[in-house]
Amino acid sequence: MTTTLFVKANNRQESVSGKLYYAFLDSYRASYPDDKVIEIDLFNEPLPYLGDVMISGNFKTSQGMELTLEEKSVNDVVAKHLEQFVAADKVVIAFPLWNLTVPAVLHTYLDYMHHPRKTFKYTAEGLVGLLPNKKVALLNARGGIYAEGDSSEMAVSFVKNHLNVFGITDISTVVVEGHNQYPDQREAIIEEGIYKAVQMAKNF
Ligand SMILES: Cc1cc2nc3c(=O)[nH]c(=O)nc-3n(C[C@H](O)[C@H](O)[C@H](O)COP(=O)(O)O)c2cc1C
Repeated sequence: MTTTLFVKANNRQESVSGKLYYAFLDSYRASYPDDKVIEIDLFNEPLPYLGDVMISGNFKTSQGMELTLEEKSVNDVVAKHLEQFVAADKVVIAFPLWNLTVPAVLHTYLDYMHHPRKTFKYTAEGLVGLLPNKKVALLNARGGIYAEGDSSEMAVSFVKNHLNVFGITDISTVVVEGHNQYPDQREAIIEEGIYKAVQMAKNF
């Protein structure tokens, strides 16, 4: 059975990326009723930061050493999300551009995915991603307009860079942009994005 993981990184009521998320989810469910769908709302999850406790817990786990209770509880959170992400055939991530980058919860979630032997490995030729067959859709909203390759845009490019480390290259993207910059076109811009998300989900 195909498993698809839906990750939402926004808790704003009127969130545009939230609208994309639900439009994609409804369309996907209608198109693939037999698939297993798992949803995570990152703002409703305890997500400890990457730091000393997590790093030492990871190190001790890799060496077969005993963890402190604090390290173990942090390690269990990371392991839960990592295993879920690795096991999913397809992943959909919805997120806004806030202050030029992703919400902190998504940054933290992506930190959890970096695991030598599970998502990448080191070789003499360099780093090799271990998840080349995973398919990902990114649903993003940003109030301004950013040219392709604009280095000040660190949300879509940021997530793509992480996914590339894991060997994921099959990445589809819907970006709604410019609805704050051009308020008179706001509704039309958002509607067009929702339409694209619905269409993308049908063939995802
Ligand atoms: C805290 C905050 C920071 C923002 N930073 C940016 C920004 O750096 N660049 C930009 O173009 N728009 C920015 N915006 C506008 C958002 O990208 C826009 O409102 C978009 O719709 C956010 O997605 P959402 O509606 O799913 O929350 C920001 C909005 C907020 C609330």
